[in-house]
Formats: sequence, structure tokens, C-alpha cells
Amino acid sequence: MTGGSAVRAVVIGYPVAQSLSPAIHRAAFREAGRAGSFDAVECDRGQLESVVQELRAERVIGFSVTMPLKEAIVPLCDSLDTLASAVGAVNCVSFEDGRMVGHNTDGEGCCDAIENEAGLRLDGANAVVLGAGGTSRALCVSLVARGADVTIVNRTAERAEEVVHLVRRFDEDAHIRVGNHSSVRAAEVIVNTTSVGMGTRDVPCDPESIAPGSVVVDAVYSPLRTALLEAAARRGARCIDGLWMLVHQAQRQQEIWFSFVPTSDTMRGAALKELAARRQ
Ligand code: ATR
Repeated sequence: MTGGSAVRAVVIGYPVAQSLSPAIHRAAFREAGRAGSFDAVECDRGQLESVVQELRAERVIGFSVTMPLKEAIVPLCDSLDTLASAVGAVNCVSFEDGRMVGHNTDGEGCCDAIENEAGLRLDGANAVVLGAGGTSRALCVSLVARGADVTIVNRTAERAEEVVHLVRRFDEDAHIRVGNHSSVRAAEVIVNTTSVGMGTRDVPCDPESIAPGSVVVDAVYSPLRTALLEAAARRGARCIDGLWMLVHQAQRQQEIWFSFVPTSDTMRGAALKELAARRQ
């Protein structure tokens, strides 16, 4: 689909000024030859209902949802897709015949980044997920949906158990359990979903445990090259940074809104350009 009348989409969140979503989605619009706008709209929890009403009235094609609204938006949706329903969080809204449908592309985006950018097939793969927050929930559901064997390692074991229960409600036969830091040694894929390393040189696991040839993914993208990824590269692992996750979850959103899959390189290039401009 190209051209046509101008479309409008936005990302809502708080704070949202630093979001890379406008740069990424605008690049996708350009690639498709699509006339339209994609802006960041600041919205806190208290404003959510009225902002959603306005967006509905404006007939936006859809919108992205970021922190801290991914769970608060759920009861405002008319329906949820399978993944959003399983995770209990929405990062993308589409309008279908006037009905507001909630989707969750976070987990699928991370799995796409692993399969498409690192070339690792997740079916049957041994995956360790570090962390048990919102990102971990979305990722674990998608990993088991792709047939991976998942071990969750988290500072607070009870939170990891909660993720296991959530995933088992989605798939009672899911291969998923709580592990500990020694689980990392056997992992073919390791994903850091904790905030460890954000703006620091801290690492969320012992880099010596990372097997050469494994795939290491870091949801943190500030800095882009985290201490974890640097250590993983030194160990001979293939590294996927958080920007690839961001790009692939946005790619899935474009597919939901337009049935068009923009190239990930185009979207990543726009995000890198935006990051470079901000450094000046
Ligand atoms: P998100 O929604 O982005 O996934 P979150 O729900 O706040 O974020 O979850 C943050 C994750 O990072 C949690 O798994 C948290 O561990 P706890 O459940 O034990 O709190 C983890 N985390 C944050 N800071 C950490 C630290 N310094 N060391 C280890 N884990 C940390």
C-alpha cells in the first residue's frame, strides 16, 4: 500500500519526548511512500482516558503505547489480541471498524530480532531471560510460542515464579522454569530485560558464563553497546542491542496498521541518525 490520503499515528507515554518511535515510524512511512504524521503525545495515567477519546475522534490509524501506560490501556480496549491478552499489557492499538484493538508486539519484536538479525532459530532453543518485569513477561510468552525452552533468572525469585504462572496460563505445556545464574552457562540465547547497564557499566550476569557462539540480547539501548554486549562479544557471542528490539516491535506495529512490513535496516538507520543528532 503506498500513497493515498494522509494518515496520523502517535506514540503516547510519560515522559515521551525521548522516544525514538517517531523517528522509526516516520522512516517506515517514507519507505512506503505514505503521506502522514507520527508524533509523540505526552500523556500520564490521569490523562489516558481523555487522550484516547481525542485520538479516537481524530480517527488516527492507531497508536503506540509506552511506559507507564501499557497495562493501564488494557481496560480501555474493546478487544485484545492473543499475545496482549496473555501478557496483560498493550504496546500498540489499532482501530478496526471503530473498535479499539490492543496488541502486544514487544515479545515478538525481540524474537524477530533474534531470528532475523542473529539467525538463531528459537524452536527448541535453550533461552535464559534475565529479569521478571513487563518486558520479561511479553518476551517469555513469545519465546514459548516459538517453541523455546525458557529459564527465568531474577533477583527476586517470587517475581520470576509469577512470570512462569502467567506463561503457563497461556500454554500449560510451556517449557519454562525459574533458574539461577548458573543457568546462563547452558543458554544458546540470553536476553537481559533488567535495567542493569542502563547508563552504567554494570552487567546483569557473570560474563564468564556466556558460551561462545551463543546469542546475547540486551533490551537496554542507552548506551547502545552495553558492558554486557561488550563482554559477550569478547566471549565470541553474537550480540543484538536494544535498538534492534525497538525496531522489530515497531516493524510489527506497521504490519498491524498497514499490512506492510518496512525493512528493519531503514528503521534502525533513522533511529541511529536521531540518536546522533541528539548528541550534537
Ligand atoms: P520493565 O517493565 O521494563 O521490564 P520492570 O517491570 O521495572 O521493568 O522490571 C525491572 C526488572 O529489572 C526486574 O526484573 C528487576 O528485578 P526485581 O524483580 O528483583 O526487582 C530487575 N532489576 C532492576 N534493577 C536491578 C538490579 N540492580 N539488579 C538486578 N535486577 C534488577
